Amino acid sequence: MLSYINENRDRFLNELLDLLRIPSVSADSKFKPEMRKAAEFVRDRISEAGADRVEIYETAGHPVVYGQKIVDENLPTVLIYGHYDVQPADPYELWNSPPFEPVIKNERIYARGSCDDKGQFYMHIKALETMLATGNLTCNVKIMIEGEEEIGSSNLGSFVSAHKEMLKCDTILISDTSIIANDVPSIETGLRGLTYVEVEVIGANRDLHSGVYGGGVANPINVLCEMIASLKDEKGHITIPGFYDDVEDLTADQRAALNAAPFDLEEYKKDLQIDDIMGEEGYSTIERTSVRPTLDVNGIWGGYIGEGAKTVLPSKANAKISMRLVPHQTDEEILELFTRHFESIAPAAVKVKVAPHHGGLPYVTPTDSVEYKAAEMAMEESFGKKPIPTRGGGSIPIVALFEQELGCKSILMGFGLDIDALHSPNESYGLFNYYKGIETIPLFFKHYAALKNPAKA
Ligand code: BES
Ligand code: MN
Ligand code: MN
Repeated sequence: MLSYINENRDRFLNELLDLLRIPSVSADSKFKPEMRKAAEFVRDRISEAGADRVEIYETAGHPVVYGQKIVDENLPTVLIYGHYDVQPADPYELWNSPPFEPVIKNERIYARGSCDDKGQFYMHIKALETMLATGNLTCNVKIMIEGEEEIGSSNLGSFVSAHKEMLKCDTILISDTSIIANDVPSIETGLRGLTYVEVEVIGANRDLHSGVYGGGVANPINVLCEMIASLKDEKGHITIPGFYDDVEDLTADQRAALNAAPFDLEEYKKDLQIDDIMGEEGYSTIERTSVRPTLDVNGIWGGYIGEGAKTVLPSKANAKISMRLVPHQTDEEILELFTRHFESIAPAAVKVKVAPHHGGLPYVTPTDSVEYKAAEMAMEESFGKKPIPTRGGGSIPIVALFEQELGCKSILMGFGLDIDALHSPNESYGLFNYYKGIETIPLFFKHYAALKNPAKA
């Protein structure tokens, strides 16, 4: 298989570059035609790789692409999941080269979606092609690539429950996460959940002269800032009553294991050009960014932000607020607690509105399962080092739903790095990581088939 990958190296890369040229931004309706183009591109490539039943499925939002290769009913079935949608490329002016015109520099592919998730799911299509072309497909494969992950996958849940039979599988394999370093392979064994809301604070019925009315009526921006500031205390704890009630406290052993992963605080600060870190008292950076819940303002606006100074007392102020959740918090309950609390802390001088965006449940996977073992063996074989289990801080909303609807666990065998700048300007993905993924995925299939059916191996 390695020789097949090497012989087709350039084509494997050029196909990915073509996919990266399609600006499939799910959040912005102006890219709707490009979303379809990307879905068609993915469908055609899955088909060419040798899969059957390859089709685009319509949803209430962006389409889902599905294909499968059933070799033998008695073999285990692996469902591959990924997403062809990408985050908006804004702010464009901070890119060193246009986000949808991929360039290779210093052995890295620079483009929006290069790592998240086009570069990563495309590895699976090339791995599938490799396994089929060399007669090495040891499991049945189903592959589902969606177009709404970056906007919360809100239509995918009903797609999955409507197609349970089609998607039936033994495990789900996803490459949409990161490893610690190219010489420190790791596997994420958890994802955080998410509650995302937009709030509005409303004062007077119109913008007012800040001299004539200032000091006499509420300024919604001042009020919003005070309300937001009160959501955390001086120890970095979130003050919403009941917020921590369901949070799972890790045992001392679990915390020690988590903190044993290589982490260099000085390097971390240097990379981000910060003099100090900040976070919840009593927890390490690893813990703060993986097993502890958070509350962050993602955007805030209101008033006059044009050139020069305008004296105005704005009538409205808004913010987008996200909360990352950990086991056993639920997005619905946190939404309720947040809404109730936010409304309760508003002074009578303003009105507030809380509108939910999207949500998702947290997820954990055990490390003693057959599928984890297979991923561990595959990475150990391709990297020459046993991967370290870590807990991820990001969210992939469908993963917890897969468990509920399909009854199986997902393996998060991602190949990204922190330096890939996901969601940022100048997102990139290492050529090493791309090819290492294509090499490792067939090894997962090999070990998974052998572990599931020791007699046959
Ligand atoms: N691939 C990421 C999630 C991720 C990144 C997990 C790195 C672990 C390590 C995914 O595409 C993503 O960005 N998810 C969103 C959630 C979504 C509802 C907008 C996120 O985590 O913000
Ligand atoms: Mn992703
Ligand atoms: Mn993402």
